[in-house]
Amino acid sequence: MAHDALSSHSSADPFTPPADSTLWRENFLLGAATASYQIEGAVNEDGRLPSIWDTFCATPGKVLAGDSGEVACDHYHRWEADVDMLAGLGLEGYRLSIAWPRVMHLDGTPNRKGLDFYKRLLTRLKEKGITTFVTLYHWDLPQHLEDRGGWLNRETAYRFADYADLMSRELAGNVDAWATLNEPWCSAYLGYGNGHHAPGLVNARFATQAMHHLLLAHGLAVPVLSANDPASQKGIVANIGRGTPNSDSADDRRAAHLFEVQHNAWILDPLLKGTYPQALFELWPGTEPLILDGDMQTISAPLDFLGINYYFRTNVASDGAHGFKDVPLQGVERTQMGWEVYPDGLCDLLISFRREYANLPPVYITENGMASDDKVIDGRVDDTQRISFLKRHLAAVDEAIKAGVDIRGYFLWSLMDNFEWAFGYERRFGIVHVDYATQKRTIKRSAELVSRFLKERKERNLRI
Ligand code: FCB
Repeated sequence: MAHDALSSHSSADPFTPPADSTLWRENFLLGAATASYQIEGAVNEDGRLPSIWDTFCATPGKVLAGDSGEVACDHYHRWEADVDMLAGLGLEGYRLSIAWPRVMHLDGTPNRKGLDFYKRLLTRLKEKGITTFVTLYHWDLPQHLEDRGGWLNRETAYRFADYADLMSRELAGNVDAWATLNEPWCSAYLGYGNGHHAPGLVNARFATQAMHHLLLAHGLAVPVLSANDPASQKGIVANIGRGTPNSDSADDRRAAHLFEVQHNAWILDPLLKGTYPQALFELWPGTEPLILDGDMQTISAPLDFLGINYYFRTNVASDGAHGFKDVPLQGVERTQMGWEVYPDGLCDLLISFRREYANLPPVYITENGMASDDKVIDGRVDDTQRISFLKRHLAAVDEAIKAGVDIRGYFLWSLMDNFEWAFGYERRFGIVHVDYATQKRTIKRSAELVSRFLKERKERNLRI
């Protein structure tokens, strides 16, 4: 089934899933997500150390308009009102991340003030009955670790395990699910491969070595989290990309395959099969990382869940050598990011993963959403394209569930507009609008409709 604009626009309700959708089931978790550096601000408070993103933002030319996360949504000070807003919308789950530089001093000892912030926040979320997914690493590496090589240094993986140990001892009982890393592809490739993200290095060999150390960090942390907080779920969050061939030629089909190897199998194969895909090293010859005995077993330890972040597809052709090149399609629907709206990609990938990985754990869609140039007009934000986007992507999730993929929940990216990394504040992904001059939050129409659905679902399930 195609989740195209026409079929959704023609239905009477712009958001509510049809009656036969699996999303009406009360055990399908619906929530929203954020990340520490993108919303917290307060970068110099209570002993927080600098992170690689503070450094990157301070480097001219790296972030649009020279923006930084210095103030962001000021969530560090406004967290109580933000939790009230989340609960008021009836969202059932909240995915947040912890800022590593806030909770550990330079010598690795706990920073109590930073820890207390997360304790207060998670306690309040628990009181409100909100299911919490906590990501340990959403890209804000302490700068002092980068100064020693960052993810190119194997030591960083062991420091991450120490950090996971501290957090799970301190927060056990207040976290429903731990995700070790957010999108290692972005940390490794954008951070060390093409330099679009912090720390901004450009070298394919660095990217594969950084990926290995990131995955090792994940693998070392999982047993630590299990020991300290056995009741919680443990997993990792991966961004996935759909690559489609520009033509039916064997070369273009091979290019699309390589695209998906580079975006998906590079991460999922080591986690779920215990090996790196050989095709990756055909794409980037000579970039095999240094792997020590036992690493692949550590990396492929069983997971309770796999978090999947999905945004768009890329149409690719052969580059004439052993790689691929993007061939942007004309006349397709796009978002403020320029990303193509392509819900089928989500469904197709989920079904293909189920075929490819016999041990695919239960899946949560940990991020999905879109940026639009939203404006507050007479106190309201009518984000029509987002409403349609969400409806179509939730239909794709429903279709994958019906095809047999075990998908347990969906988190919208994002609860509120925030610091969109290299794009600064221009790109608005929230279901809540943020006026950065006043920090006023305005509930967008999309949030109203999600909220209405959740309330209706609750009532309907109470009646059954
Ligand atoms: C993902 C990131 C998230 C957000 C969205 C738009 O790659 O995990 O922080 O920036 O993209």
